Amino acid sequence: MTDSLAPAPAQPDRAALHALLRRMPKAELHIHIEGSLEPELIFRLAARNGVALAYPSVAALRAAYAFTDLQSFLDIYYAGAGVLLKEADFFDMAHAYFERAAADHVVHAELFFDPQTHTERGVPIEAVILGLARACRRAQAEFGISARLILCFLRHLSEEAAFATLEQALPWREHFVGVGLDSSERGHPPEKFARVFARAGALGLHRVAHAGEEGPPAYIEGALDVLQVERIDHGVRCIESPALVQRLAALRMPLTVCPLSNVKLRVYDTMAGHSLPALLQAGLCATVNSDDPAYFGGYVNDNYIAAFDALPQLGRDEAYRLARNSFEASFAPAADKARWTAQLDAVFASA
Ligand code: ADE
Ligand code: ZN
Repeated sequence: MTDSLAPAPAQPDRAALHALLRRMPKAELHIHIEGSLEPELIFRLAARNGVALAYPSVAALRAAYAFTDLQSFLDIYYAGAGVLLKEADFFDMAHAYFERAAADHVVHAELFFDPQTHTERGVPIEAVILGLARACRRAQAEFGISARLILCFLRHLSEEAAFATLEQALPWREHFVGVGLDSSERGHPPEKFARVFARAGALGLHRVAHAGEEGPPAYIEGALDVLQVERIDHGVRCIESPALVQRLAALRMPLTVCPLSNVKLRVYDTMAGHSLPALLQAGLCATVNSDDPAYFGGYVNDNYIAAFDALPQLGRDEAYRLARNSFEASFAPAADKARWTAQLDAVFASA
């Protein structure tokens, strides 16, 4: 048999890279827990709570997940969250996420939640916080995942509403470690929330904000200068400003990048055009995350694999760097970060 008739070689390097991406320990730092609500669970909770849905079936709901931009997604995302009424609903949603995260070798997760999405519908804030906090404790006990909560303000609402939400949440202060800023970005610059972020800082809460997803690089600068954030969520549009990239690199300011989200919401036309390799090349502390995994086609490992498959500049070294960055960028204690980094080193040493 001549060489030309031999079967095409398998791609052992690619298979090995996938295996490494899947099994390396990692932290997930940008996951909206309401965005982990799978259509099947939406239907189950709707039936349990007697909530009417606008779609006749799981398949019909899933078929509606064709987004043209951030707002077209948010409209469906807020409607889906309408099935969440009781403490047990929040627990069940987060527990389902942690099962998936454990399968993806997530050892630490920081979960965003949107209290205003629920309190506006009359759901008591304690049902939200206590259900999620119970799931976080269970994640540690059942999966060995350390989990923390970050309370997000909806930026399409007023700063007064954000203040009221923070005050409402304070009796349960021990259950969340920080505040964030999400929802419709354009037209709602960080400066709108200057005072409530200052108050959160005075309370000893960590501060993060979505910036530079659809909004311009100036929103990233505003988040740094006015909100005093410790991480930028998304931040990919920094690439349009070389001076800002330099500043972020010098600060080692983490960016929580969400590749599948960026393609689904048309921040990038294709994954092949994503800026993740350029961000790493510039020395930024970029991380990979899922954002809203039930809506965007996958959980954190799906994000790593989709990005690495489409971007030939990403290989083993970048896999290590991204996982390591995820620990560095987390709000976990230094001893935990060191332990997870040692676990990461052991996985790479044996692969
Ligand atoms: N809320 C849930 N997902 C979001 C995203 N990608 N951007 C802004 N707000 C969000
Ligand atoms: Zn997000």
